[in-house]
Amino acid sequence: MSATARKTALNAEDIRALKGDRPIVSLTAYTTPMARLMDEHCDFVLVGDSVGMVLHGLSSTLGVTMEMMVLHGAAVSRGLSHAMMVIDMPFGSYEEGPAQAFRNAARLMAETGAAAVKLEGGVEMAETIRFLVKRGIPVMAHIGLTPQSINTLGGYKVQGRAEGAAPLLADARAVEEAGAFAVVLEKVPATLADQVTAELSIPTIGIGASAGCDGQVLVVDDMLGFFTAFKPKFVKRYAELGPAAEEAIAEYAAEVRARAFPAPEHTFADHAPKKD
Ligand code: KIV
Repeated sequence: MSATARKTALNAEDIRALKGDRPIVSLTAYTTPMARLMDEHCDFVLVGDSVGMVLHGLSSTLGVTMEMMVLHGAAVSRGLSHAMMVIDMPFGSYEEGPAQAFRNAARLMAETGAAAVKLEGGVEMAETIRFLVKRGIPVMAHIGLTPQSINTLGGYKVQGRAEGAAPLLADARAVEEAGAFAVVLEKVPATLADQVTAELSIPTIGIGASAGCDGQVLVVDDMLGFFTAFKPKFVKRYAELGPAAEEAIAEYAAEVRARAFPAPEHTFADHAPKKD
């Protein structure tokens, strides 16, 4: 696939500049039609590796590949003209070191048109973030609950409580110092998220964090009620599209079985009318 020369109205510097101005709005997207629906409403759209669980039925994000991210990233890119596109680096594509991270980040940007990458990790990823940023790749960091590390974190637990607060603050400071333009705080106690937000000069993007963060992100299928396998506490359902879709499918199935669909208006006559 060749590089896409998509022009977006917003870039990493625009997102950074929104800190202290107004809340930053973001959702995930994995397809062109969904990206089109959110383009005017979001400041940045995240092609999250949550795609593995949401669209591919995986039980975690660990099985997501570069090829999946390229495919979905290119699709989302075709639906955006206003919002900035940020793409997740999948598990195993950056942890070996800066050179591996650069190679894969450059591929994601070249083949999808993404304007930045997101990667999980704090202090331990600072060197890699610095390497990427110095070579022209804007990086959004992701700390707190980092789903690619569920096997070492012991599950999808809140991060930063009690003695966990100091390491989380250290992660936040490290990614800022390394040059990240924003940082996602996932499943972090609200007071700690507020403290990080007050201390950092880059925007914090909360998911299960605090309304005081500089912005918010949600998985779109969660907030629309499409993904119903489980509902984290931090998700607000703004619609129940999953049950609505199932109801429509059941009605279709019943009509096909009753030969009520297709009706005459959905079929074609022997002789061509003015318009079919
Ligand atoms: O993969 C994802 O969707 C994320 C979240 C921050 C929403 O990383």
